[in-house]
Amino acid sequence: MSIPFLKAENVSKTLSSGGKPLQILKTINLTFSAASTNAIVGASGSGKTTLLGLLAGLDLPSAGSIYFSDKDITKLSEDGRAKLRAGRVAFIFQSFQLLQHLTAYENVLLSLEILNSSQAKSKTLSILDRVGLSHRLDHYPNQLSGGEQQRCAIARAFVIKPVLLFADEPTGNLDLKTSQTVVDLLFELNHERQTSLIIATHDIGLASRCERVITLSGGEVLSDETNK
Ligand SMILES: Nc1ncnc2c1ncn2[C@@H]1O[C@H](COP(=O)(O)OP(=O)(O)OP(=O)(O)O)[C@@H](O)[C@H]1O
Ligand SMILES: [Mg+2]
Repeated sequence: MSIPFLKAENVSKTLSSGGKPLQILKTINLTFSAASTNAIVGASGSGKTTLLGLLAGLDLPSAGSIYFSDKDITKLSEDGRAKLRAGRVAFIFQSFQLLQHLTAYENVLLSLEILNSSQAKSKTLSILDRVGLSHRLDHYPNQLSGGEQQRCAIARAFVIKPVLLFADEPTGNLDLKTSQTVVDLLFELNHERQTSLIIATHDIGLASRCERVITLSGGEVLSDETNK
């Protein structure tokens, strides 16, 4: 039996655009179980990235609550949310967000060093090898191709073996073969570590490998289906 450990309750998000309020997410109610694989799909602009940011506690909703392990993260300070996430939650952003002054190797190593993890160097080398970046360890992000930067961001997220992983278009910039490797790594992590995956994607193949597919449309849940 899987336990619900992430829950969005009546979550909405309104931003101001040109001085006018713009509602981006409308009354979202979703519960995610531990060790589950979830795809969030929907047209460009439907609110996937916004929803991921709220679920991950990177951003706060305009209304509603988000519970992670029974704690309402919307009631925590930014610091409190960061502490709750440390070592447990990882993200792969649509915009990579690699640190520009660190090499590929250092970007991945840093996430382990922050956690005082043992064997940080060998874990870093091993994961970078898995994503096919062994020959680019000393390159800075601006010396990597888009797909290489994405693989580095993926290695950085995977290396801590999080219990919850958010991925925003993890295969968006990759060729077929690399994209397959990355998807395999995502599902291996789910099997090995019971990591829950919440993946925003336009990739139908990737979505179909998830147990559950949530479709957003205009900031609302249009459908929420379990894959056979
Ligand atoms: N800071 C902002 N101010 C105003 N509008 C915003 C802001 N951020 C996002 N939006 C709008 O909110 C809507 C949802 O954006 P979001 O990035 O969540 O979409 P998405 O589903 O991830 O799209 P894509 O598939 O293109 O990545 C879009 O219409 C976007 O223009
Ligand atoms: Mg997006």
